[in-house]
Amino acid sequence: MNIIRVKDQIEGGQVGAQVFQDALNNQAHVFGLATGSTPISIYDTIVKSDMDFSDKISINLDEYKGISGEHEQSYRYFMQKHLFDVKPFATSYVPNGLNPDGMSESGRYDKILEQYPRDLQILGLGQNGHIGFNEPGTSFQSTTHEVDLTESTIEANARFFSDKNDVPRQAYSMGIKSIMGAKQILMAAYGENKAAAVKAMIEGPVTEDVPASILQKHDNVIVILDAGSASQL
Ligand code: GLP
Repeated sequence: MNIIRVKDQIEGGQVGAQVFQDALNNQAHVFGLATGSTPISIYDTIVKSDMDFSDKISINLDEYKGISGEHEQSYRYFMQKHLFDVKPFATSYVPNGLNPDGMSESGRYDKILEQYPRDLQILGLGQNGHIGFNEPGTSFQSTTHEVDLTESTIEANARFFSDKNDVPRQAYSMGIKSIMGAKQILMAAYGENKAAAVKAMIEGPVTEDVPASILQKHDNVIVILDAGSASQL
């Protein structure tokens, strides 16, 4: 893993946006995108740049199940607001949270992933070591699937909802095998509340108990860390 230490999330955004620029320079066509607070500074930097994605494809990691793309807390809405409204892609795929049938939605998304191999996948890190919505214990062989969110993830995401009871209990997520299929992975983590997960991801055994530890087995990973998230290394 290529670990890059930065002063703060702003500098992390500049470093991350440069990874996007390098990918564009190398003819990358398909970008795997993520939500959460972590990638926001990367998207902010991209929005202010002259990068152009209008003939590119984006595929998002995950989406809550049971809410529509117009819901303010949906990941589709997040992507519109933070990136797509200013930097549109030719096509942007996000799982359809309103499809009640997990098998059909997962199958549909896996076909998209097969059709468009990702050149770059951006990732955030859950405090329990999750990537996408792949909670601890998820098989490393998993493809797109329906997920029951853990209490800790519901808790961590409750800050975005007016009431914790409004946080969806389920989601659709690319699986771990799907994530590992990207040619290059860009992971960022900031703050001391991620320090234990960062240590387990980088120095711990590769185990399904820590989904992000699988990244040790990928040959092209960039990890952006600040002092807080790197404090246990
Ligand atoms: C959510 C998302 C993940 C994200 C994680 C961390 O659970 N499904 O993709 O990486 O939260 O979020 P944050 O970047 O806000 O810390």
